[in-house]
Amino acid sequence: MRLFALSSILILGSVAASKRNYETHNFYVIEHDARHASLASVSAALGVEVVERAGELPNHYLVRAPSFSGELGSRSEQRDRVLDALARLRARSHLAARGDEEARAGDAVKYISRQTLRQRVKRAPIPQEPAEDARAVAQRLGITDPLFDKQWHLVNEEAPEHSMNVIPIWEMGYTGEGVITSFVDDGLDYTSEDLKDNFAAEFSYDFNDHESLPTPKLPEDTHGTRCAGQVAAGKNNACGLGIAYDSKVAAVRILSGPISDVDEAASLNYGFQNVSIYSCSWGPPDNGRVMEGPDFLIDKAVLNGINYGRGGKGSVFVFASGNGAASGDQCNFDGYTNSIYSVTVSAVDHKGLRPYYSEACTANMVAAYSSGSGKAITTTDKGSNKCASSHGGTSAAAPNAAGVFALALEARPDLTWRDIQHLCVENARVVSPDDDGWETVAGGRMYNSKFGYGALDGLRYVQAALDWKLVKPQARMQTRTVQIEDGMMNPMGSYSGGQFIEADGVTSSIGVKWDMLQDANFELLEHIVIRVWIDHTRRGDVQVELTSPGGITSVLAEPRRADNANTGFPGWDFMTVKHWGEEMIGDWTLKVSDQASAANNGSFLGWNMVFWGSVIDASKAVLYDVSHEDPVLPPHEEPQPLPPTTATNTKTYAKPTIFLTSEESGSSSTVAATPEPTDHDEEDIAEPAADDHEDSDHEVADALHSEQRKVVAGIVFIVALISSVGGVFIWRRRSNKSPYITLQEGRAMPMSDTGRSALAADGNDSDEEADERTGLRSGPYQHHQGFHSGFLDDDEEEAHEYPPSRSPGRVSPAYRDEAETQRPSET
Ligand SMILES: *[C@@H]1O[C@H](CO)[C@@H](O)[C@H](O)[C@H]1NC(C)=O
Ligand SMILES: *[C@@H]1O[C@H](CO)[C@@H](O)[C@H](O)[C@H]1NC(C)=O
Repeated sequence: MRLFALSSILILGSVAASKRNYETHNFYVIEHDARHASLASVSAALGVEVVERAGELPNHYLVRAPSFSGELGSRSEQRDRVLDALARLRARSHLAARGDEEARAGDAVKYISRQTLRQRVKRAPIPQEPAEDARAVAQRLGITDPLFDKQWHLVNEEAPEHSMNVIPIWEMGYTGEGVITSFVDDGLDYTSEDLKDNFAAEFSYDFNDHESLPTPKLPEDTHGTRCAGQVAAGKNNACGLGIAYDSKVAAVRILSGPISDVDEAASLNYGFQNVSIYSCSWGPPDNGRVMEGPDFLIDKAVLNGINYGRGGKGSVFVFASGNGAASGDQCNFDGYTNSIYSVTVSAVDHKGLRPYYSEACTANMVAAYSSGSGKAITTTDKGSNKCASSHGGTSAAAPNAAGVFALALEARPDLTWRDIQHLCVENARVVSPDDDGWETVAGGRMYNSKFGYGALDGLRYVQAALDWKLVKPQARMQTRTVQIEDGMMNPMGSYSGGQFIEADGVTSSIGVKWDMLQDANFELLEHIVIRVWIDHTRRGDVQVELTSPGGITSVLAEPRRADNANTGFPGWDFMTVKHWGEEMIGDWTLKVSDQASAANNGSFLGWNMVFWGSVIDASKAVLYDVSHEDPVLPPHEEPQPLPPTTATNTKTYAKPTIFLTSEESGSSSTVAATPEPTDHDEEDIAEPAADDHEDSDHEVADALHSEQRKVVAGIVFIVALISSVGGVFIWRRRSNKSPYITLQEGRAMPMSDTGRSALAADGNDSDEEADERTGLRSGPYQHHQGFHSGFLDDDEEEAHEYPPSRSPGRVSPAYRDEAETQRPSET
């Protein structure tokens, strides 16, 4: 115990600084079930220490263990000691006596996920010609902001019908007061004249540098400030106006470096009782080759925000559809935009045209004005009185939508997240009426996968909100899973069976009957999630379409010319909002086809659907929780709805994620480098946990920390002393022979372990196999080495690779599909 305390204390030195060093430690998120064993017993048994609560997720903790840095042989010889320890505990637990806390610690871990760093990519601004001058109309409105006349998205003199149409809402008295929008982005310049009065510091945080203020530190950290200005730039003498200029903005900084799932999850719930809207202008790369979505932990956080955020009315998540249209990308290949919990926003330009960058897909709900046809968005920039006139892309579309939602929430604070979506569907306006994508859908509405239900019209939206009758609670109905010709996919992602995709495609139908709807308490259709298993030698050749009983077709996947992945669709979820309000009874038919090329082919293995909508009988409504499903075919079991507060049905799962990255900076600071074992240490640890989920586990964690803190100063002093006389701590135990080490040895580890190898692989066989499938055996680490500059290049690339003048489809031949390395952990 002595040894344990000692090593834990040393680690705490760096925990206190709140930075996460992925070189010296492996981080995990565990979901703790206190009925089986205390958190202290669990951490002792696993050889980990608790760092903090995982954001706002109840009973979830971020823990860490020193990474074992040894230059071992191949990856397969390296094991993850924590996951191994858990596996051993679980194997033992059925033999354990009642009082044997340690043995039962295995049962107390409902879920574990190793954390890796990954980079979310900003929706890069699209290069634009300078905006043309427009005639000032500010005088009539008593506005002195000098650039108001450049803000055509507020007052468009050339084409008055193409604006966000919010001036009349201001005149009705709604300016966003009392509403907070959080920008999940690269920071926010809270010293800006335009934003400082509207900045909500207490709901802001920097998850990249683990500091309380989201200061945009990198030169390119202008994106979040520009987006925030679109919503909340003040009515003053600086730049222009925000759509909800009396609303408040918060910011969580996550885009300025790699981030792990636990921090991304926390960022999406940060301040979620007070923040109403999370504006997200980022996602997986928009290069037309990636298919990637949020990891399970992030899904949980999103649903946590939906079910419990904003006092239970649900956080409003707004996502930009993506800027990859010119490279053939579609927002249905992005798990954030095709989530039912996101309002997915595409772009429309000042002439009402679809900009070349704006991604289409059936998850698009609405369009909002942004750059294109020679004009961009004028907004606040980083700097005390600096303005940006070249902001654009779907990055700028999403905040314009968020601004309208802020006005609507001032008018109607009781709107739930689904009311926000219903109002979008019902009040958007057709733009580009000659575009061939428009189709009449249920209720006589028009839908176009490029624009969703059309351009968001502020006045219509808020007027409708004022008269809106809140929707009934949400209903869910999952169909059976169809296995086509014994189509199967095992947990390693290997396919078998299925029907060969001939030139005219393969179709399969699922019937919905009246009594199924009654049994599911299902009244009115909203979203449909379609999960497909398709094996194909070239994913970009595949087309997937869903046709409703009423004959309306959602094209879920169109061919993507850049997508050469050979991993198919391993239980990928597509989403469509195009069938909103449609009759559900009858046959729903999925058609899978490819380009019938001689060189590439594949098979359709299986599919299912989840219908989401509103209930018939509100008194029988159930809140849905995420259950961890391995997307195997056939599925292990149908997921069950869970009552809101007793999440006992979530499967327990050892799910090592793919690989541990080396932090770009290569800082090798030892554990004793930055100790601050003082009182504010406690604040750091407690942050960003909220107090509304207070439970005994948390107290245990706190107790753990405070006990350790007592001796930390002394220990730190000793270590510093030894280091300073050049003492080399090499207690390193090389475990070439045995991949297992005992917990005692593990506890002694951290002093030696500065973790330079950092490529401590998890030895997960499934990864090996997945890598083989994609031919990326040596790949995963390359991606993350030089990560930081790679990210900047990426940003540049997005801006320069697809300018409008360039012929579309220029793709580097030697690419790596990052998504594939992530694949096994997606759902
Ligand atoms: C945040 O929301 C909580 C719960 O509604 C409320 O009690 C608290 O006063 C709010 N804080 C601020 C700063 O608005
Ligand atoms: C499918 O493609 C593979 C590889 O290109 C080829 O070897 C195989 O013969 C093809 N199968 C059919 C049935 O065309």
